Amino acid sequence: MTAGANEVTRLVVVGQGYVGLPLAVRACEVGFDVVGLDIDADRVKRLEAGDSTVEDIGDDRLAAALASGRYRPTTDPADAAGFDAAIISVPTPLREGNPDLRFIESAVGVLAEHVTEGCLVVLESTTYPGTTEELVGPILEAGSGLVAGTDFHLGYSPERIDPGNQEWRFENTPKVVSGIDADSLAAVEALYGRLVDQTVAVSGTKEAELTKLLENTFRHVNIALMNEVAMFAHELGIDAWEAVEAASTKPFGYLRFTPGPGVGGHCLPIDPSYLSWRVKDSLGHAFRFVELANDINAHMPDYVVRRLQTTLNERGVPVRGRRVLLLGLAYKRNTGDARETPAGPIARLLTELGADVYGADPHVDEDALGPEVTRVDLTAAEVAAADAVVLLVDHDRFDLDLVARHATYVLDTRHALTGPAVEHL
Ligand SMILES: NC(=O)c1ccc[n+]([C@@H]2O[C@H](COP(=O)([O-])OP(=O)(O)OC[C@H]3O[C@@H](n4cnc5c(N)ncnc54)[C@H](O)[C@@H]3O)[C@@H](O)[C@H]2O)c1
Repeated sequence: MTAGANEVTRLVVVGQGYVGLPLAVRACEVGFDVVGLDIDADRVKRLEAGDSTVEDIGDDRLAAALASGRYRPTTDPADAAGFDAAIISVPTPLREGNPDLRFIESAVGVLAEHVTEGCLVVLESTTYPGTTEELVGPILEAGSGLVAGTDFHLGYSPERIDPGNQEWRFENTPKVVSGIDADSLAAVEALYGRLVDQTVAVSGTKEAELTKLLENTFRHVNIALMNEVAMFAHELGIDAWEAVEAASTKPFGYLRFTPGPGVGGHCLPIDPSYLSWRVKDSLGHAFRFVELANDINAHMPDYVVRRLQTTLNERGVPVRGRRVLLLGLAYKRNTGDARETPAGPIARLLTELGADVYGADPHVDEDALGPEVTRVDLTAAEVAAADAVVLLVDHDRFDLDLVARHATYVLDTRHALTGPAVEHL
């Protein structure tokens, strides 16, 4: 071995998105020499110009990283040469309901050409248990002619980044780390020990891979539970939100989750299916909790539209030709991430019913939702002009008092508003 983990200076971060960019900038700030490799030329151009593509990294932090001379965004795979450590944070989507690992495969293929004795490769992308050992290791070995564990280190460390969360940031969120053997684990721990306040070692890469899927499946299932409770409670004439708040006063044995218009982002709609796929593929069993949660959460946009339609109908107002204002187009509070956002299917369904759909979101790019949503700012005039307002995300930057004062009718899916014109999910 030529380089011990503590001597890592040259780091390649493959994928400069929500996960990779904050990681690369942090590594630069603590003294690494960082190459940020991405296949998206537009993204790299923006980064080179100091224009951050991720809200959690301000332009000032990016500018400082670039100015240090130790952060270099690039599309050129040759720039990966000579790395001491490489971290892979590329997308892991689904294709026809199954894990699509093509991004990982191509990223690992690029790194394989530059693997040298003593280096470290860590996978961070969310994936099914077994990926690091069964897929990443063999590609690296085939491309380098070296042996994982013997000649170079290999590990997995799941990302826990929570976009928009000011309290729990990359550096103060405990980081689960693993390696394919004891030396690899030591190398991974040493690397992340310089990047975060606390590392949490687990015994193998499969345990670390499962940890990430467990965290997200737990969240997915509990949100689905609350969504189903909200739907039944509404039909029973019971205020589910009051019950949620009351239950949340229990100081032990209960964790607060709330209903909502559906799940979005790159995690909840996707990650649990990686776990259920693995269970089905390896054991032949259905992972029933995941299937049920997928079913309930995917159905929520449909339910929101049906609730809106029902209320308008009771008022003698058809949806066709009405002006509906969607507030919050991102999938969660205080972020601009509109991937898999419930606002998408809600806008589509309303458009199919003949509504004129307007949308306001100070965080989300103008073109993120397509032509069926006319983008407007949240103003008293826009609220007053709408036949119905649907609050999908209660961003801090929304003036909710203004909404309550000027709306004729609001369907509030977040329980953020009160008033005579407000109906809760
Ligand atoms: N966004 C989150 O909050 C979050 C949290 C935890 C885990 N994750 C996981 O982290 C991984 C990355 O997610 P993300 O949100 O950062 O995705 P992202 O889409 O924001 O960024 C991924 C980047 O990787 C690039 N890329 C794709 N293939 C590449 C290749 N072969 N070489 C170089 N670059 C390549 C893309 O162009 C893109 O810029 C996923 O597995 C995701 O599930 C995401």
